[in-house]
Amino acid sequence: MLADSSIFANREVLSPHYTPQKLLYREREINNIEKALAPSLKGNRGRNLFVYGKTGTGKTSCLKYVIEEVKGIPNTRARISYVNCRIYNSRFRVLNKIIGDHIPTYARRGYGAVDLYEKLTTWIEEDNKILVVVLDEVDLVKDLDDLIYTLTRINSDIKAGGVTIIGISNKVSFKEELDPRSLSTLYETELVFAPYYATEIYAILKDRVGAGFKKDVVDDDAIHYIAAAAAKEGGDARFSLKVLTRAGEIAEERGHQRVTVKEAEDALKISENEIVYDVIATLPEHQKIVLYAVAMLTQSGGSYKKLTDGVDTYLFSGEVYHRYKSISEGIHKDAKSERWYRKYLSELEMQGLIVSYESGKGIRGHTKLIKLLYPTKKMCDVLEKEIFGGGEEKTPAPEDAKAEV
Ligand SMILES: Nc1ncnc2c1ncn2[C@@H]1O[C@H](COP(=O)(O)OP(=O)(O)OP(=O)(O)O)[C@@H](O)[C@H]1O
Ligand SMILES: [Mg+2]
Repeated sequence: MLADSSIFANREVLSPHYTPQKLLYREREINNIEKALAPSLKGNRGRNLFVYGKTGTGKTSCLKYVIEEVKGIPNTRARISYVNCRIYNSRFRVLNKIIGDHIPTYARRGYGAVDLYEKLTTWIEEDNKILVVVLDEVDLVKDLDDLIYTLTRINSDIKAGGVTIIGISNKVSFKEELDPRSLSTLYETELVFAPYYATEIYAILKDRVGAGFKKDVVDDDAIHYIAAAAAKEGGDARFSLKVLTRAGEIAEERGHQRVTVKEAEDALKISENEIVYDVIATLPEHQKIVLYAVAMLTQSGGSYKKLTDGVDTYLFSGEVYHRYKSISEGIHKDAKSERWYRKYLSELEMQGLIVSYESGKGIRGHTKLIKLLYPTKKMCDVLEKEIFGGGEEKTPAPEDAKAEV
């Protein structure tokens, strides 16, 4: 079937799991990662590095690129472990993964954390190795303070060799949740990945169009359109590739020979929704309920007070809290305090689902005004399914079945 496609030449290079050989506009970042790794390659413990940037800004790709480069260097005492913390999300799992990478005969024998720790320490000391641990999506490690503590303790427990940590995250609020000690350990040096500009995304897409699509089937205007939209979405290259692929699929389904702006527009609409649903599905339950309260109030208005400036509807924070409490009661959940509620609001805002303003003086003293950023009806439907269950039960994929990214 794929051979028959008149649109795609190679779908593989468009897949989200594909690591491109050539990373555009990231020389500075790649250089900085190399610099951070240089001491380790020479056999000294380097400074830890923390890499931060919004989703789809190339953090994982750049790290993997440098790791591949390092693998080709002969006679180095550096050993690298790339750990995807979405899968290895606890201290024990991370340690097990590192051992599995380097001492496979010892892994999977049911040892406890202490055994793993000791094995790892001995292995490093053996011939003064420098272990570089890359923790991707590090914010997802449940007992992160313990993990950071354990990894750094190795350095004081051994006489030779060392451990260097590279952490990667796209969560801004993550810093605040860390123990001050872990924070100063992780943030010895920091590297920030800026969102891509439309022109940069255009070049990234153009490059991928050349490899993934048949010759001359994608209109240049369509690429420009997607690049501009993705830049507006937060400079997310992954999103732009998703829209591009979807546009190709739409053209194919319609039996068209070309991908035009029309297909790009339709693909954008579909992809935007999908992204919102993905985000909503991964929200903690109480945040879902708060968001549902916002969506319901926006939809009904009813006896609730809202402010309308002719275009947008803003809700009072207090009323949203009130509704959140009554929805929680309705499903027999204990509503959290207002302090938690305010935290939920800022998380939802960070995810780009709502926006809030301080009302300033005049409107009821000083209150927060909240606005939903996505279509109300859709949002209500999706959240209803999420909160009250939408027929079939979602069973999470077993941990081991997930492919390692
Ligand atoms: N500079 C680039 N050149 C070419 N392709 C890129 C570039 N940056 C990102 N991409 C593409 O975008 C996709 C997303 O990038 P990547 O996974 O590295 O983002 P990320 O910053 O790790 O995002 P997240 O925070 O969501 O994990 C990659 O699979 C890659 O195909
Ligand atoms: Mg990543």
